[in-house]
Amino acid sequence: MYTTELDKQRHTVVTQEDPEKLAAFEARVAADDFIEPKDWMPEAYRKTLIRQISQHAHSEVVGMLPEGNWITRAPSLRRKAVLLAKVQDEGGHGLYLYAAAETLGISRDEMIEALHSGRAKYSTIFNYPTLTWADIGAIGWLVDGAAIMNQVPLQRTSYGPYARAMVRVCKEESFHQRQGYEIMMHLAAGTPDQVRMAQDALNRWWWPSLMMFGPPDADSPNTAQSMRWRIKRDTNDELRQKFVDITVPQADALGLKVPDPDLAWNETKGGYDFGAVDWEEFYAVVRGEGPVAKERMKARREAWESNAWVREAAAAHAEKKAAKREAA
Ligand SMILES: [Fe+2]
Ligand SMILES: [Fe+2]
Repeated sequence: MYTTELDKQRHTVVTQEDPEKLAAFEARVAADDFIEPKDWMPEAYRKTLIRQISQHAHSEVVGMLPEGNWITRAPSLRRKAVLLAKVQDEGGHGLYLYAAAETLGISRDEMIEALHSGRAKYSTIFNYPTLTWADIGAIGWLVDGAAIMNQVPLQRTSYGPYARAMVRVCKEESFHQRQGYEIMMHLAAGTPDQVRMAQDALNRWWWPSLMMFGPPDADSPNTAQSMRWRIKRDTNDELRQKFVDITVPQADALGLKVPDPDLAWNETKGGYDFGAVDWEEFYAVVRGEGPVAKERMKARREAWESNAWVREAAAAHAEKKAAKREAA
């Protein structure tokens, strides 16, 4: 019902566009041309991109919180330096993405306000707690691993600024994935307690990682239009399958067990069959009922408020510079 309603709305929005402009736009997209900020685009395309890019930006920024939590408790100076660099990268990803979304005519303040008021969504994965150091390994390995799977095809997404932001983001994500896997390798080859920590982290992060690809294709109302406009290049289920196929052998190499009794290699399809994701849990987390959803937003709002002086100082500095330039 909800899906049908959404589709109807989208259909109305698209059919209200100038048919000639729409046809020219669709031909460009079909020819794999990039659409740039000043080009004509259907309103529904603009809105979809604003929603997707801003959600992506919010996810990068909120994603700093579960890991930032461990910077002071990293087990060595080397681990601390690496984690610090990784968390800073995520902040940078958020900034490129907010800047890309701004080219579509929305302001940074509007996006931040939508996040802080709870209207905007971000990836459900960041509403789970990081309980042990092994979680930092599992996040890098699985969460950044899933992010790469989602983001590599976005380097060829039809909107130019989004595609270009993804090129650098993807390079950094592959470093993030490796640093996580390296932590897991270390723990999995360690003492029995360390092995237990590694397995426990995999148990808790596996299913939320599979949820990162979004609902099954049959329940994903945006997928068809997004594929047509080449915003998306692969469906949620295709990406989830790819992730499972790549990640299971990595768990085997660690000597850890993926927590899915239904996981089995399927020779015919050349990939793994795997158990059903608990979509009830996913939708509950989307509704804001994740284990640490409230803490995450509280931390974001506090950071926004207590750092207001930085924004004010930067604005005052920019004004001063502009005045000097004018006087010169
Ligand atoms: Fe990132
Ligand atoms: Fe990352």
